[in-house]
Amino acid sequence: MYSVPKLSEWSAAALDAAVAELRTALSAEAGRVSGDKGLREFHDRWLGRRNGILTQINEEWLKAAPAEAKREVGQRVNELRTLVRETYARKTAEVELTQDADSILKTGKGTSVETDQQWVADLAKRQELVLRAQGVDVSLPGIRRPLGAEHPVIRTMNEICGVFRAMGYSVAEGPEIESDYYNFEALNFPPEHPARDTQDTIFLAGQEAKPARERLLLRTHTSPVQIRSMERQKPPVRVVIPGKIHRHDAPDASHSPMFHQVEGLAVDTNITFSDLKGTLDHAMKALFGSSVKTRFQPSFFPFTEPSAEVAFSCIFCGGKGCRTCKQSGWIELLGCGMVDPNVFEFVRENGYDPAKVSGFAFGMGVDRVAMLKYGIDDIQLLFQGDVRFLEQFG
Ligand code: DAH
Repeated sequence: MYSVPKLSEWSAAALDAAVAELRTALSAEAGRVSGDKGLREFHDRWLGRRNGILTQINEEWLKAAPAEAKREVGQRVNELRTLVRETYARKTAEVELTQDADSILKTGKGTSVETDQQWVADLAKRQELVLRAQGVDVSLPGIRRPLGAEHPVIRTMNEICGVFRAMGYSVAEGPEIESDYYNFEALNFPPEHPARDTQDTIFLAGQEAKPARERLLLRTHTSPVQIRSMERQKPPVRVVIPGKIHRHDAPDASHSPMFHQVEGLAVDTNITFSDLKGTLDHAMKALFGSSVKTRFQPSFFPFTEPSAEVAFSCIFCGGKGCRTCKQSGWIELLGCGMVDPNVFEFVRENGYDPAKVSGFAFGMGVDRVAMLKYGIDDIQLLFQGDVRFLEQFG
């Protein structure tokens, strides 16, 4: 326990050493203070009128000092007095704050004030006092930490997934670097099949030594996660899969070598094409407004049979024809169809016997939707990272 030493030397260095020793003791003892009792003991020990440490240094250091050292000693004693008082004020505020916080946690009410509202106001004031006592000036300008904004593509993805989550779908993801097996083969694109040419694929270099199905590529669609989901989970399955995809496309206002899709898959014992139509019709209305109509046209995808392209009536002209819909009245948005039995064959072992289960799948472009929703006319803007563009979505 610290006690005030008598001084026999009065040089500046000796005084500084004595002051340093006292300060160390002060901060150690202050650190141990807790509760009202501790606070009172701290007060009596340091600030007690009759025999507190401040009184003692006044007697033992200042009064005992030879005349020529009085000034140096006086200055230090004054500084120490201020420091001790400040420390006590800070501890008082801290103790009070802790008590109020404890009390409100236990009882919902503070200790020193009547209403919660007042408590909150007082708390803010007290916190400010503690901060100020700790040398934090709350009136100084802060360090600006600008809030980020959700990227329009991510926001749109979340919105699309939200529509399907509300219908009971779960959300899954898969790797962006994918094998030929998941991206093509298990989706019923046989090796050398011309349908592969429709997806200008970016392959990873140096894969020639591997068997074809193991070669890695950047996934050209989110459809491989259909297979991954069915491997992971027995039927029934209802899942949406948001993600980034890559194709070897030259960038222009409507093309980007990297873009986004949301895939969907529903498999159960009695899923029909009308389930598919109803689900997508609902989703289009939820995304673009209840007055939009949907149109299904026959199409081809290796992994669905039958397959369809879905368009919705143009939200800008109401279907009359305008620039956005290229005068057709319709905006094409997604591919879909009934899961081809050949696809189920790849996961048959996990409960997907094509004679027993059926399902539908769909895949839609997210970037297109974001551009339509926010009136963006150049897809490149989405990926250039220009803050002037992005901050408009904050
Ligand atoms: N994967 C297709 C594409 O990127 C889109 C698609 C079409 C996904 C039909 C599907 C589907 O799930 O059933 O062009």
